[in-house]
Amino acid sequence: MPDDDDFLLLNPGPVPLSGNVRRAMDEPMVSHRSAEFEATYERAQQGLDYVFTQSTLDDHSHDSNGTSLILNGTATMGMEMAVANLTDAESDVVALVNGKFGRRFKRIAERHARVTPVEVEWGQSFDLDAVEQAVADADLVTMVHNETSTGVLNPVEAVGELTAEHDALFVVDGVTSIGGDVFRVDDWNVDIAITDAQKALAAPPGISALYVTERAADAADGDSAPFYEDLEWHLRKADDHQTPFTSSVPLFRALAVAVEEIREEGMESRIDRHRRQSQAFRAGFEALGLKRFPDIEPPTSLSNTLTAIELPDEVKAAPEEFFGAITERNVSISGGQAHLGGQIFRVSNMGHLSSAQVLRGIRTVGEALNEVGVECDVESSIETATEILNK
Ligand SMILES: Cc1ncc(COP(=O)(O)O)c(C=O)c1O
Repeated sequence: MPDDDDFLLLNPGPVPLSGNVRRAMDEPMVSHRSAEFEATYERAQQGLDYVFTQSTLDDHSHDSNGTSLILNGTATMGMEMAVANLTDAESDVVALVNGKFGRRFKRIAERHARVTPVEVEWGQSFDLDAVEQAVADADLVTMVHNETSTGVLNPVEAVGELTAEHDALFVVDGVTSIGGDVFRVDDWNVDIAITDAQKALAAPPGISALYVTERAADAADGDSAPFYEDLEWHLRKADDHQTPFTSSVPLFRALAVAVEEIREEGMESRIDRHRRQSQAFRAGFEALGLKRFPDIEPPTSLSNTLTAIELPDEVKAAPEEFFGAITERNVSISGGQAHLGGQIFRVSNMGHLSSAQVLRGIRTVGEALNEVGVECDVESSIETATEILNK
């Protein structure tokens, strides 16, 4: 399934595409109001229902009546759509912030409602007592499941119990978890879940998806939202496998194929593979003498879809040389965002990565470190990671 091109894309999105997903974008154009397009949208919705609810895991029976819908815009649009339709200027929103995307959700909410942030340092765990206190008076809570800026997997299930207890709506950004890790819209009391096409769904960038429960649909007020983001209108059209406006036909086609590939692999095996690969990345980098970045406490855990690693002090002094040595090897990884720039690097294992590609990622980082004068044993880190991948 993975491309055999020499270029290795390890950024936390966009991620490499399978050949079939790529080819889906290269078919003759049809009208976005045609029966062919509706069939494509419906295929994508069926795959998305599966990914959002993960109804076949552990014999869990799926009793949700929610709707999967697709947006002509990336997940930031979905985040705004969720908040704008469920709040007004008199609403109290609690925004949980422990990284860049939690902060983005807070900023979005500030444009629409009164916001109380529960904020900890980027990469740290939330104190659930502090969350509970804040949630007690909230109308709506925003949270990021997998914080892409730090590699932290936040405890959505635990916060969902609190929002349910206090009858607050719960809106969750699952952009870098949904499709690569466990995510249970129903069991976790999530009212709207949001994901991007170009992350763990392994589709091209430009569109995103929402899962909207009946409770959220009942609470939505489309008139309070920007015209393009009227949730009631989107839900009406989604029932007919349409969007209100012109759909990006090639991207919807690619998404339909991508979610079908997820179904073929099966969420359980896909999640197992992601866990193994992220463990291999972490163990391989640690065997190179590197320190993983986040400092977490249960029930917060480390991400299974991306790994953040602290740069050694020598590299922090001149990070561009290290990142240049990676690029020269035809591999692309990410640095830190905002104040974490020059402090950490991040690699993704979202999508269809093979074991060989994970090992190449570790080897590339090891070789780049040696090239910039940080001595490390590349071969033994490859052995460590290989053992985990072969488990
Ligand atoms: C956790 C998270 N939320 C939201 C986004 C949405 O970003 P965009 O709208 O630019 O695709 C991203 C993208 O990196 C992300 O990682």
